[in-house]
Amino acid sequence: MDNKEQNKMDKIISLCKRRGFVFPSSEIYDGFAAVYDFGPYGVELANNIKNLWWKNMTQFRDDIVGLDSAIFMNPKVWEASGHIKGFSDPLTECKKCHTRLRLDTLLEDYGIRADEKMSEEEINKIFKNNKGKVKCPNCGSTEMSEAKNFNLLVKSNLGNFTGDMEKDPVYLRGETCQGIYVNYKNVLDSTRVKIPFGIAQIGKAFRNEITARQFIFRTREFEQMEMQYFVKPDDFKKYYEDWKNIRFNFYLDLGIKAENLKWHRHENLVFYAKEAYDIEYNFSFGFKELEGLHVRGDYDLTQHSKFSGQDLSYLDPSDNKKFIPYIIETSAGVGRTFLAVLTEAFREEKIDDDVRVVLKLNPIIAPIKVAVFPLLKNKPELVAKAKEIFDMLKKEWRCEFDDNGNIGKRYRRQDEIGTPYCITIDFDSLENNDVTIRDRDTMEQKRITVDELINYLKNKLQ
Ligand code: GAP
Repeated sequence: MDNKEQNKMDKIISLCKRRGFVFPSSEIYDGFAAVYDFGPYGVELANNIKNLWWKNMTQFRDDIVGLDSAIFMNPKVWEASGHIKGFSDPLTECKKCHTRLRLDTLLEDYGIRADEKMSEEEINKIFKNNKGKVKCPNCGSTEMSEAKNFNLLVKSNLGNFTGDMEKDPVYLRGETCQGIYVNYKNVLDSTRVKIPFGIAQIGKAFRNEITARQFIFRTREFEQMEMQYFVKPDDFKKYYEDWKNIRFNFYLDLGIKAENLKWHRHENLVFYAKEAYDIEYNFSFGFKELEGLHVRGDYDLTQHSKFSGQDLSYLDPSDNKKFIPYIIETSAGVGRTFLAVLTEAFREEKIDDDVRVVLKLNPIIAPIKVAVFPLLKNKPELVAKAKEIFDMLKKEWRCEFDDNGNIGKRYRRQDEIGTPYCITIDFDSLENNDVTIRDRDTMEQKRITVDELINYLKNKLQ
């Protein structure tokens, strides 16, 4: 990351803390590595991202249903899925200071492309060929151990009364989609879905990430928005192309510029995938994965059929033939989308001798849609009128009332959190039943009657 980009990232992290978007977890106890909390504006932004994804994936479609499966599942799920054996990252240790590091990302920091899906042998070979080039970020030593696979599943003692975590481990889910596969038959039996159809789910996932850096990009607890689309094996290519287009356009619609998005095709496939592409975003630290689109083939349903003894094949009503559907997966992270939209929206604009920090977020995901100000806080008639308008608007949108400080400062506060519209009530408002409305991006102000307000905002915000 060059200095300018590092600077931008630092500014975004600082804004997130200062303005209540993201806080380090349990900060009063010095935090907890790689875990973060969403603050008052952060939870609004994250919810707006999730709601938009949910609407696009369920409400706007007639072939996708939703699900909310539990975080804990029978541990056999993780055996069948292959995660107990194959869900790992290459762990190396600095021989001098004993810092534990993830080798593939360390190599990448030195411009040496090492795909995270490479085998232990492949990555150690690349490491050997580049000996001396890669340094421990903690002490600068070039002496590091060979990488060993480190399993990422997080263990828990839920329901384990033997007290032996090694013998009877239970896992927090490492990906949300397993909850979809184990409910696939329930969904088929309880709804009218027919292939091709999808099941969508948003929920928490947990991974024992070795190195957690880059703020909320890689955390140990995070949320995924996953959709699994079940198709006839012969049809998967067509649907895969469709989903690639749909998902890429989702980010364009969010307001991300096409030049900041790109496709990355996986050369080395994870154990479940037949084909895999990532949508990458140009974060401050370079193009990195935002969402994965995988053709998982019949891997998951076959494995779960084998391990559970249940028949998870699909009976095609058109010809009475049975088959195991292929699965096309779209898997996005809430935290990464959050960081991408903030990175895209963050601006510092020079205005006369001042710099205004503004988040030019797409209004549809802005945490606060409208802020309402009385011009002066010590004039009860202005405050009463402003409150009346705030009470009217808050039924439609998440709004904020602010009577603190001069109007310029109030505008700046709203700019920093990305509020698209600010409304000011002055003495003329009392006479004419109108307000001044100010646009975040152009900073233009115009007067509009209170009667027109809701329709005006509806047109702008929806
Ligand atoms: N079910 C497939 C799956 O989980 P993945 O590529 O490992 O695939 C999918 O993860 C998405 O989940 C990623 O593109 C990313 O947005 C998000 N994600 C994965 N690990 C993450 C982590 N440690 N922190 C934040 N987001 C993560």
